[in-house]
Amino acid sequence: MRVCVIGTGYVGLVTGVCLAHIGHHVICVDNNEEKVKLMKSGQSPIYEPGLSELMQSSAQSGRLEFTSDLAAGVKHGEILFIAVGTPALPTGESDTRYVEAVARGIGAHLDSSTYKVIVNKSTVPIGSGDWVRMIVLDGVAERLKSLVTAGGSSEPTKEMMANFDVVSNPEFLREGSAVYDTFNPDRIVLGSNSQKAIAMMQELYAPLVERKFAQDQSLPPVPVVVTDLSSAEMIKYAANAFLATKISFINEVANICDRVGADVTQVAKGIGLDSRIGDKFLQAGIGWGGSCFPKDVSALIHTAEDYGYEAELLKSAVNVNKRQRSIAIEKLQQELKILKGKTVGLLGLTFKPDTDDMRDAPALILIEQLNRLGARVKAYDPIVSQSGLSHGLSGVIIETNPEMLADGCDALVLVTDWQEFLKLNYEKMAKLMTNPVMIDGRNFLDREALEKAGFRYVGIGR
Ligand code: UDX
Repeated sequence: MRVCVIGTGYVGLVTGVCLAHIGHHVICVDNNEEKVKLMKSGQSPIYEPGLSELMQSSAQSGRLEFTSDLAAGVKHGEILFIAVGTPALPTGESDTRYVEAVARGIGAHLDSSTYKVIVNKSTVPIGSGDWVRMIVLDGVAERLKSLVTAGGSSEPTKEMMANFDVVSNPEFLREGSAVYDTFNPDRIVLGSNSQKAIAMMQELYAPLVERKFAQDQSLPPVPVVVTDLSSAEMIKYAANAFLATKISFINEVANICDRVGADVTQVAKGIGLDSRIGDKFLQAGIGWGGSCFPKDVSALIHTAEDYGYEAELLKSAVNVNKRQRSIAIEKLQQELKILKGKTVGLLGLTFKPDTDDMRDAPALILIEQLNRLGARVKAYDPIVSQSGLSHGLSGVIIETNPEMLADGCDALVLVTDWQEFLKLNYEKMAKLMTNPVMIDGRNFLDREALEKAGFRYVGIGR
Protein backbone atom coordinates (compact mmCIF):
# COMPACT_ATOMS: atom_id res chain seq x y z
CA MET A 1 0.00 0.00 0.00
CA ARG A 2 1.06 3.61 -0.42
CA VAL A 3 1.76 5.22 2.94
CA CYS A 4 2.77 8.71 4.01
CA VAL A 5 4.06 9.32 7.54
CA ILE A 6 4.16 12.97 8.59
CA GLY A 7 6.61 13.68 11.40
CA THR A 8 9.81 11.65 11.75
CA GLY A 9 10.21 11.82 15.49
CA TYR A 10 10.57 8.64 17.41
CA VAL A 11 7.08 7.22 16.65
CA GLY A 12 6.84 8.40 13.04
CA LEU A 13 10.25 7.20 11.97
CA VAL A 14 9.91 3.76 13.57
CA THR A 15 6.41 3.37 12.07
CA GLY A 16 7.51 4.47 8.59
CA VAL A 17 10.64 2.32 8.52
CA CYS A 18 8.82 -0.79 9.79
CA LEU A 19 5.89 -0.37 7.35
CA ALA A 20 8.40 -0.12 4.49
CA HIS A 21 10.15 -3.25 5.76
CA ILE A 22 6.92 -5.29 5.67
CA GLY A 23 6.35 -4.35 2.02
CA HIS A 24 4.57 -0.98 1.81
CA HIS A 25 5.81 2.01 -0.15
CA VAL A 26 6.40 4.71 2.44
CA ILE A 27 7.21 8.40 2.13
CA CYS A 28 8.22 10.06 5.41
CA VAL A 29 7.69 13.82 5.55
CA ASP A 30 9.41 16.19 7.94
CA ASN A 31 9.68 19.98 7.79
CA ASN A 32 13.21 19.88 9.22
CA GLU A 33 15.40 19.95 6.09
CA GLU A 34 18.56 19.02 8.00
CA LYS A 35 16.89 15.92 9.39
CA VAL A 36 15.55 14.94 5.97
CA LYS A 37 19.06 15.27 4.53
CA LEU A 38 20.46 13.06 7.29
CA MET A 39 17.77 10.39 6.81
CA LYS A 40 18.22 10.45 3.03
CA SER A 41 21.88 9.58 3.62
CA GLY A 42 20.72 6.48 5.51
CA GLN A 43 21.36 7.79 9.02
CA SER A 44 18.85 7.67 11.85
CA PRO A 45 18.48 10.87 13.89
CA ILE A 46 17.63 8.77 16.97
CA TYR A 47 19.34 5.85 18.65
CA GLU A 48 17.06 2.83 18.49
CA PRO A 49 18.41 -0.72 18.23
CA GLY A 50 17.93 -2.20 14.72
CA LEU A 51 16.47 0.96 13.19
CA SER A 52 19.44 2.13 11.07
CA GLU A 53 19.83 -1.33 9.51
CA LEU A 54 16.15 -1.44 8.50
CA MET A 55 16.34 2.16 7.23
CA GLN A 56 19.20 1.29 4.93
CA SER A 57 17.73 -1.96 3.57
CA SER A 58 14.29 -0.39 2.96
CA ALA A 59 15.83 2.65 1.27
CA GLN A 60 17.83 0.35 -1.01
CA SER A 61 14.66 -1.57 -1.94
CA GLY A 62 13.15 1.76 -3.05
CA ARG A 63 10.22 1.42 -0.63
CA LEU A 64 11.33 4.15 1.79
CA GLU A 65 11.75 7.81 0.89
CA PHE A 66 12.21 11.02 2.83
CA THR A 67 11.06 14.48 1.85
CA SER A 68 10.14 17.87 3.27
CA ASP A 69 7.44 18.27 0.61
CA LEU A 70 4.09 17.68 2.35
CA ALA A 71 2.14 18.01 -0.92
CA ALA A 72 4.14 15.15 -2.48
CA GLY A 73 3.60 12.99 0.62
CA VAL A 74 -0.17 13.62 0.70
CA LYS A 75 -0.45 12.91 -3.02
CA HIS A 76 1.42 9.62 -2.62
CA GLY A 77 -0.34 8.16 0.41
CA GLU A 78 -3.63 6.23 0.51
CA ILE A 79 -2.95 6.13 4.25
CA LEU A 80 -1.60 9.30 5.87
CA PHE A 81 -0.18 8.99 9.38
CA ILE A 82 0.00 12.07 11.58
CA ALA A 83 2.93 11.34 13.89
CA VAL A 84 4.04 14.73 15.17
CA GLY A 85 4.75 15.61 18.79
CA THR A 86 2.13 16.55 21.38
CA PRO A 87 4.37 17.88 24.17
CA ALA A 88 2.94 18.82 27.55
CA LEU A 89 2.16 22.48 28.19
CA PRO A 90 3.10 23.85 31.64
CA THR A 91 -0.54 23.25 32.67
CA GLY A 92 -0.28 19.50 31.91
CA GLU A 93 -2.50 19.76 28.82
CA SER A 94 -1.21 18.44 25.49
CA ASP A 95 0.04 21.01 23.04
CA THR A 96 -1.76 20.02 19.83
CA ARG A 97 -0.55 22.85 17.63
CA TYR A 98 1.68 20.57 15.50
CA VAL A 99 -1.16 18.12 14.88
CA GLU A 100 -3.35 21.06 13.91
CA ALA A 101 -0.77 22.42 11.46
CA VAL A 102 -0.35 19.02 9.81
CA ALA A 103 -4.12 18.39 9.58
CA ARG A 104 -4.56 21.81 7.95
CA GLY A 105 -1.68 21.05 5.58
CA ILE A 106 -3.21 17.71 4.59
CA GLY A 107 -6.52 19.46 3.88
CA ALA A 108 -4.77 21.98 1.68
CA HIS A 109 -3.32 19.23 -0.51
CA LEU A 110 -6.23 16.75 -0.64
CA ASP A 111 -8.08 16.17 -3.85
CA SER A 112 -11.34 14.28 -4.14
CA SER A 113 -10.20 11.76 -6.73
CA THR A 114 -8.71 9.23 -4.27
CA TYR A 115 -10.09 8.14 -0.93
CA LYS A 116 -7.60 8.63 1.93
CA VAL A 117 -7.40 7.41 5.48
CA ILE A 118 -5.92 9.93 7.93
CA VAL A 119 -4.48 8.18 10.96
CA ASN A 120 -3.79 9.78 14.32
CA LYS A 121 -0.68 8.03 15.58
CA SER A 122 0.33 10.83 17.93
CA THR A 123 -1.07 10.53 21.45
CA VAL A 124 -3.80 13.12 21.19
CA PRO A 125 -6.39 14.33 23.71
CA ILE A 126 -9.61 12.35 23.74
CA GLY A 127 -11.96 13.75 21.11
CA SER A 128 -9.17 14.66 18.71
CA GLY A 129 -10.39 12.37 15.94
CA ASP A 130 -13.42 14.54 15.21
CA TRP A 131 -11.36 17.69 15.71
CA VAL A 132 -8.76 16.53 13.16
CA ARG A 133 -11.57 15.88 10.65
CA MET A 134 -12.81 19.43 11.20
CA ILE A 135 -9.33 20.96 10.76
CA VAL A 136 -8.67 18.95 7.59
CA LEU A 137 -11.99 20.23 6.21
CA ASP A 138 -10.94 23.79 7.12
CA GLY A 139 -7.72 23.20 5.16
CA VAL A 140 -9.79 21.98 2.21
CA ALA A 141 -12.05 25.05 2.45
CA GLU A 142 -9.07 27.43 2.48
CA ARG A 143 -7.74 25.81 -0.66
CA LEU A 144 -11.14 26.00 -2.37
CA LYS A 145 -11.39 29.66 -1.48
CA SER A 146 -8.03 30.35 -3.11
CA LEU A 147 -9.08 28.39 -6.21
CA VAL A 148 -12.32 30.37 -6.49
CA THR A 149 -10.47 33.67 -6.03
CA ALA A 150 -8.16 32.55 -8.82
CA GLY A 151 -11.20 32.50 -11.13
CA GLY A 152 -12.51 28.91 -11.14
CA SER A 153 -16.06 29.43 -9.74
CA SER A 154 -17.21 25.95 -10.79
CA GLU A 155 -14.80 24.23 -8.36
CA PRO A 156 -16.14 21.36 -6.21
CA THR A 157 -17.62 22.12 -2.79
CA LYS A 158 -15.91 21.40 0.52
CA GLU A 159 -18.11 18.31 1.05
CA MET A 160 -17.29 16.90 -2.37
CA MET A 161 -13.61 17.20 -1.52
CA ALA A 162 -14.08 15.37 1.78
CA ASN A 163 -13.19 11.95 0.44
CA PHE A 164 -11.42 10.76 3.62
CA ASP A 165 -11.92 9.21 7.05
CA VAL A 166 -10.02 9.54 10.32
CA VAL A 167 -8.71 6.59 12.33
CA SER A 168 -7.14 6.58 15.79
CA ASN A 169 -4.32 4.02 15.90
CA PRO A 170 -2.31 4.52 19.09
CA GLU A 171 1.20 3.08 19.40
CA PHE A 172 2.49 1.17 22.40
CA LEU A 173 6.18 1.19 21.51
CA ARG A 174 8.79 1.21 24.22
CA GLU A 175 11.89 3.23 23.51
CA GLY A 176 14.86 0.94 23.13
CA SER A 177 12.72 -1.92 21.81
CA ALA A 178 10.47 -0.03 19.41
CA VAL A 179 11.38 -2.10 16.33
CA TYR A 180 10.86 -5.34 18.25
CA ASP A 181 7.54 -4.06 19.64
CA THR A 182 6.32 -3.10 16.15
CA PHE A 183 6.93 -6.60 14.81
CA ASN A 184 5.70 -8.33 17.99
CA PRO A 185 2.70 -6.30 19.18
CA ASP A 186 0.40 -7.51 21.99
CA ARG A 187 -2.54 -5.97 20.13
CA ILE A 188 -3.40 -3.43 17.44
CA VAL A 189 -6.02 -0.81 18.28
CA LEU A 190 -8.08 0.82 15.52
CA GLY A 191 -10.73 3.41 16.33
CA SER A 192 -13.03 4.80 13.64
CA ASN A 193 -16.65 5.05 12.61
CA SER A 194 -15.80 4.11 9.03
CA GLN A 195 -15.82 0.43 8.01
CA LYS A 196 -13.95 1.30 4.84
CA ALA A 197 -11.10 2.97 6.76
CA ILE A 198 -10.88 0.06 9.22
CA ALA A 199 -10.70 -2.43 6.32
CA MET A 200 -7.79 -0.50 4.79
CA MET A 201 -5.95 -0.39 8.12
CA GLN A 202 -6.47 -4.15 8.51
CA GLU A 203 -4.94 -4.69 5.08
CA LEU A 204 -2.01 -2.45 6.02
CA TYR A 205 -1.28 -4.39 9.19
CA ALA A 206 -2.08 -7.89 7.84
CA PRO A 207 1.61 -9.01 7.76
CA LEU A 208 2.00 -7.96 11.40
CA VAL A 209 -1.31 -9.52 12.46
CA GLU A 210 -0.22 -12.79 10.83
CA ARG A 211 3.13 -12.44 12.67
CA LYS A 212 5.13 -12.73 9.44
CA PHE A 213 7.93 -10.62 10.96
CA ALA A 214 7.55 -11.80 14.55
CA GLN A 215 10.14 -13.57 16.63
CA ASP A 216 7.70 -16.42 17.28
CA GLN A 217 5.65 -16.93 14.12
CA SER A 218 3.78 -19.92 15.56
CA LEU A 219 1.74 -17.75 17.93
CA PRO A 220 -1.94 -17.09 17.10
CA PRO A 221 -2.69 -13.89 15.11
CA VAL A 222 -2.31 -10.55 16.89
CA PRO A 223 -5.68 -9.42 18.33
CA VAL A 224 -7.07 -6.34 16.56
CA VAL A 225 -9.30 -4.23 18.81
CA VAL A 226 -11.74 -2.19 16.72
CA THR A 227 -13.47 0.62 18.60
CA ASP A 228 -14.96 4.06 18.16
CA LEU A 229 -12.51 6.98 17.95
CA SER A 230 -12.71 8.14 21.58
CA SER A 231 -12.28 4.65 23.04
CA ALA A 232 -9.13 4.08 20.98
CA GLU A 233 -7.75 7.41 22.17
CA MET A 234 -8.62 6.49 25.77
CA ILE A 235 -6.96 3.05 25.47
CA LYS A 236 -3.61 4.73 24.94
CA TYR A 237 -3.96 6.99 28.00
CA ALA A 238 -5.39 4.23 30.20
CA ALA A 239 -2.57 1.80 29.27
CA ASN A 240 0.17 4.28 30.12
CA ALA A 241 -1.59 5.51 33.26
CA PHE A 242 -2.05 1.92 34.46
CA LEU A 243 1.62 1.03 33.91
CA ALA A 244 2.84 4.22 35.59
CA THR A 245 0.51 3.56 38.52
CA LYS A 246 1.75 -0.02 38.77
CA ILE A 247 5.34 1.24 39.12
CA SER A 248 4.29 3.87 41.68
CA PHE A 249 2.48 1.12 43.58
CA ILE A 250 5.59 -1.09 43.82
CA ASN A 251 7.70 1.96 44.73
CA GLU A 252 5.32 2.70 47.59
CA VAL A 253 5.56 -0.92 48.71
CA ALA A 254 9.38 -0.62 48.49
CA ASN A 255 9.36 2.38 50.81
CA ILE A 256 7.30 0.41 53.34
CA CYS A 257 9.65 -2.60 52.88
CA ASP A 258 12.59 -0.34 53.75
CA ARG A 259 10.95 0.55 57.04
CA VAL A 260 9.83 -2.94 58.09
CA GLY A 261 12.94 -4.76 56.85
CA ALA A 262 11.36 -6.69 53.94
CA ASP A 263 12.85 -7.12 50.45
CA VAL A 264 10.71 -5.60 47.68
CA THR A 265 12.33 -7.74 44.96
CA GLN A 266 11.06 -10.86 46.73
CA VAL A 267 7.69 -9.25 47.38
CA ALA A 268 7.38 -8.35 43.66
CA LYS A 269 8.19 -11.93 42.72
CA GLY A 270 5.64 -13.24 45.19
CA ILE A 271 2.81 -11.04 44.00
CA GLY A 272 3.80 -11.07 40.30
CA LEU A 273 3.23 -14.82 40.05
CA ASP A 274 -0.47 -14.17 40.65
CA SER A 275 -1.70 -14.11 37.06
CA ARG A 276 -4.21 -11.41 37.97
CA ILE A 277 -1.30 -9.13 38.89
CA GLY A 278 1.45 -10.23 36.46
CA ASP A 279 5.19 -9.89 36.95
CA LYS A 280 5.92 -6.98 34.57
CA PHE A 281 6.43 -3.35 35.62
CA LEU A 282 6.98 -4.32 39.24
CA GLN A 283 10.60 -3.22 39.40
CA ALA A 284 11.00 -0.72 42.23
CA GLY A 285 13.50 2.08 41.78
CA ILE A 286 13.95 5.82 41.52
CA GLY A 287 10.77 6.34 39.53
CA TRP A 288 9.43 6.53 36.00
CA GLY A 289 10.39 9.12 33.39
CA GLY A 290 10.62 9.44 29.64
CA SER A 291 8.54 11.04 26.97
CA CYS A 292 5.26 9.21 27.58
CA PHE A 293 4.34 8.35 31.16
CA PRO A 294 4.75 11.82 32.73
CA LYS A 295 3.05 13.57 29.80
CA ASP A 296 0.20 11.12 29.35
CA VAL A 297 -0.69 10.73 33.03
CA SER A 298 -0.79 14.54 33.41
CA ALA A 299 -2.90 14.89 30.28
CA LEU A 300 -5.42 12.32 31.52
CA ILE A 301 -5.67 14.07 34.91
CA HIS A 302 -6.24 17.30 33.01
CA THR A 303 -8.92 15.81 30.75
CA ALA A 304 -10.75 14.47 33.81
CA GLU A 305 -10.59 17.98 35.35
CA ASP A 306 -12.10 19.47 32.18
CA TYR A 307 -15.14 17.30 32.91
CA GLY A 308 -15.25 18.21 36.61
CA TYR A 309 -13.70 14.94 37.81
CA GLU A 310 -10.73 14.71 40.13
CA ALA A 311 -8.54 11.72 39.18
CA GLU A 312 -7.28 11.07 42.72
CA LEU A 313 -5.52 7.77 42.11
CA LEU A 314 -3.62 9.16 39.11
CA LYS A 315 -2.63 12.26 41.06
CA SER A 316 -1.26 10.01 43.82
CA ALA A 317 0.71 7.97 41.25
CA VAL A 318 2.33 11.23 40.09
CA ASN A 319 3.06 12.37 43.66
CA VAL A 320 4.59 9.04 44.65
CA ASN A 321 6.81 9.31 41.56
CA LYS A 322 7.90 12.83 42.47
CA ARG A 323 8.86 11.73 45.96
CA GLN A 324 10.60 8.62 44.61
CA ARG A 325 13.03 10.76 42.67
CA SER A 326 14.49 12.05 45.94
CA ILE A 327 14.93 8.58 47.40
CA ALA A 328 18.55 8.34 46.20
CA ILE A 329 19.30 11.66 47.96
CA GLU A 330 17.79 10.37 51.22
CA LYS A 331 19.92 7.23 50.96
CA LEU A 332 23.07 9.26 50.19
CA GLN A 333 22.40 11.43 53.22
CA GLN A 334 21.96 8.33 55.40
CA GLU A 335 25.32 7.01 54.19
CA LEU A 336 27.42 10.18 53.86
CA LYS A 337 25.50 12.53 56.22
CA ILE A 338 26.59 15.89 54.79
CA LEU A 339 26.66 16.02 50.98
CA LYS A 340 28.30 19.44 50.70
CA GLY A 341 31.81 19.00 49.30
CA LYS A 342 31.28 15.30 48.52
CA THR A 343 31.63 13.78 45.05
CA VAL A 344 28.77 11.62 43.75
CA GLY A 345 29.06 9.56 40.56
CA LEU A 346 26.02 8.64 38.50
CA LEU A 347 26.04 5.36 36.57
CA GLY A 348 23.65 6.10 33.70
CA LEU A 349 21.83 9.27 32.69
CA THR A 350 19.12 8.31 30.18
CA PHE A 351 15.61 7.66 31.53
CA LYS A 352 16.03 3.96 30.71
CA PRO A 353 18.57 1.74 28.92
CA ASP A 354 19.01 1.37 25.15
CA THR A 355 17.94 4.90 24.38
CA ASP A 356 19.63 8.29 24.15
CA ASP A 357 16.51 9.99 25.50
CA MET A 358 16.94 12.30 28.50
CA ARG A 359 13.36 13.61 28.56
CA ASP A 360 12.07 13.69 32.14
CA ALA A 361 14.96 11.46 33.18
CA PRO A 362 15.27 10.94 36.96
CA ALA A 363 19.01 11.77 36.55
CA LEU A 364 18.16 15.40 35.78
CA ILE A 365 16.40 15.90 39.13
CA LEU A 366 19.19 14.09 40.96
CA ILE A 367 21.84 16.36 39.41
CA GLU A 368 19.83 19.44 40.33
CA GLN A 369 19.23 18.31 43.93
CA LEU A 370 22.86 17.24 44.45
CA ASN A 371 24.10 20.57 43.12
CA ARG A 372 21.74 22.40 45.44
CA LEU A 373 23.14 20.45 48.39
CA GLY A 374 26.70 21.42 47.40
CA ALA A 375 27.88 18.05 46.06
CA ARG A 376 30.08 17.65 43.01
CA VAL A 377 28.41 15.43 40.40
CA LYS A 378 30.08 13.24 37.80
CA ALA A 379 28.38 10.79 35.43
CA TYR A 380 29.08 8.00 32.99
CA ASP A 381 26.46 6.79 30.51
CA PRO A 382 27.22 4.34 27.67
CA ILE A 383 25.39 6.50 25.11
CA VAL A 384 25.63 10.03 26.46
CA SER A 385 29.36 9.76 27.28
CA GLN A 386 30.32 8.28 23.91
CA SER A 387 28.23 10.40 21.60
CA GLY A 388 28.79 13.82 23.08
CA LEU A 389 25.06 14.06 23.76
CA SER A 390 25.79 15.86 26.98
CA HIS A 391 24.66 19.16 25.45
CA GLY A 392 22.20 20.98 27.62
CA LEU A 393 23.38 19.15 30.73
CA SER A 394 24.77 21.46 33.36
CA GLY A 395 26.14 20.84 36.85
CA VAL A 396 27.65 17.48 35.92
CA ILE A 397 31.05 16.34 34.68
CA ILE A 398 30.71 13.66 32.00
CA GLU A 399 33.35 10.92 32.25
CA THR A 400 34.27 8.67 29.36
CA ASN A 401 34.52 5.39 31.28
CA PRO A 402 33.25 3.86 34.55
CA GLU A 403 36.66 3.79 36.19
CA MET A 404 37.26 7.48 35.65
CA LEU A 405 33.81 8.00 37.12
CA ALA A 406 34.64 5.99 40.25
CA ASP A 407 37.94 7.81 40.78
CA GLY A 408 37.64 10.01 43.88
CA CYS A 409 33.88 9.45 44.41
CA ASP A 410 32.30 9.26 47.86
CA ALA A 411 29.38 7.27 46.47
CA LEU A 412 27.98 5.95 43.20
CA VAL A 413 24.29 5.93 42.28
CA LEU A 414 23.08 3.50 39.62
CA VAL A 415 20.45 5.55 37.79
CA THR A 416 19.88 3.56 34.56
CA ASP A 417 19.85 -0.24 34.31
CA TRP A 418 22.18 -0.59 31.29
CA GLN A 419 23.19 -4.26 30.77
CA GLU A 420 26.86 -3.33 30.59
CA PHE A 421 26.74 -2.18 34.23
CA LEU A 422 26.38 -5.84 35.24
CA LYS A 423 29.88 -6.53 33.96
CA LEU A 424 31.99 -3.64 35.26
CA ASN A 425 35.21 -4.17 37.18
CA TYR A 426 33.69 -3.21 40.53
CA GLU A 427 36.71 -4.35 42.50
CA LYS A 428 38.92 -1.86 40.70
CA MET A 429 36.23 0.83 40.92
CA ALA A 430 35.87 0.35 44.71
CA LYS A 431 39.62 0.84 45.12
CA LEU A 432 39.51 4.09 43.14
CA MET A 433 36.76 5.56 45.33
CA THR A 434 37.27 7.62 48.47
CA ASN A 435 34.37 5.77 50.02
CA PRO A 436 32.93 2.76 48.16
CA VAL A 437 29.16 3.16 48.55
CA MET A 438 26.75 2.00 45.84
CA ILE A 439 23.15 3.23 45.86
CA ASP A 440 21.48 0.85 43.40
CA GLY A 441 18.59 3.00 42.19
CA ARG A 442 17.15 0.15 40.07
CA ASN A 443 17.81 -2.89 42.31
CA PHE A 444 19.78 -4.10 39.34
CA LEU A 445 23.16 -5.21 40.65
CA ASP A 446 24.11 -8.35 42.56
CA ARG A 447 24.40 -7.31 46.20
CA GLU A 448 26.73 -10.18 47.14
CA ALA A 449 29.11 -9.54 44.23
CA LEU A 450 29.22 -5.82 45.03
CA GLU A 451 29.92 -6.49 48.71
CA LYS A 452 32.65 -8.93 47.73
CA ALA A 453 34.16 -6.23 45.52
CA GLY A 454 34.41 -3.98 48.57
CA PHE A 455 31.22 -1.87 48.24
CA ARG A 456 28.67 -1.00 50.84
CA TYR A 457 25.51 -1.84 48.83
CA VAL A 458 22.22 0.03 49.35
CA GLY A 459 19.16 -0.93 47.29
CA ILE A 460 15.63 0.48 47.12
CA GLY A 461 13.26 -1.32 49.48
CA ARG A 462 15.49 -4.27 50.24
C1 UDX B 1 6.17 3.61 27.66
C2 UDX B 1 5.18 2.44 27.41
O1 UDX B 1 5.76 1.23 27.92
C3 UDX B 1 4.87 2.32 25.94
O2 UDX B 1 3.89 1.30 25.74
C4 UDX B 1 4.32 3.67 25.44
O3 UDX B 1 4.04 3.62 24.08
C5 UDX B 1 5.32 4.78 25.73
O4 UDX B 1 5.63 4.80 27.12
P1 UDX B 1 8.78 3.99 27.42
O5 UDX B 1 8.54 5.37 27.95
O6 UDX B 1 9.67 3.81 26.25
O7 UDX B 1 7.40 3.28 27.04
O8 UDX B 1 9.46 3.15 28.59
P2 UDX B 1 9.10 1.97 29.61
O9 UDX B 1 9.96 0.81 29.31
O10 UDX B 1 7.66 1.71 29.66
O11 UDX B 1 9.60 2.63 30.96
C6 UDX B 1 9.07 3.86 31.45
C7 UDX B 1 9.73 4.26 32.74
O12 UDX B 1 9.34 3.39 33.80
C8 UDX B 1 11.26 4.22 32.72
O13 UDX B 1 11.74 5.37 33.38
C9 UDX B 1 11.61 2.95 33.46
O14 UDX B 1 12.87 3.03 34.06
C10 UDX B 1 10.48 2.91 34.48
N1 UDX B 1 10.17 1.54 34.98
C11 UDX B 1 9.68 0.60 34.12
C12 UDX B 1 10.32 1.24 36.32
O15 UDX B 1 10.74 2.08 37.12
N2 UDX B 1 9.96 0.00 36.75
C13 UDX B 1 9.48 -0.97 35.93
O16 UDX B 1 9.18 -2.08 36.42
C14 UDX B 1 9.33 -0.65 34.56
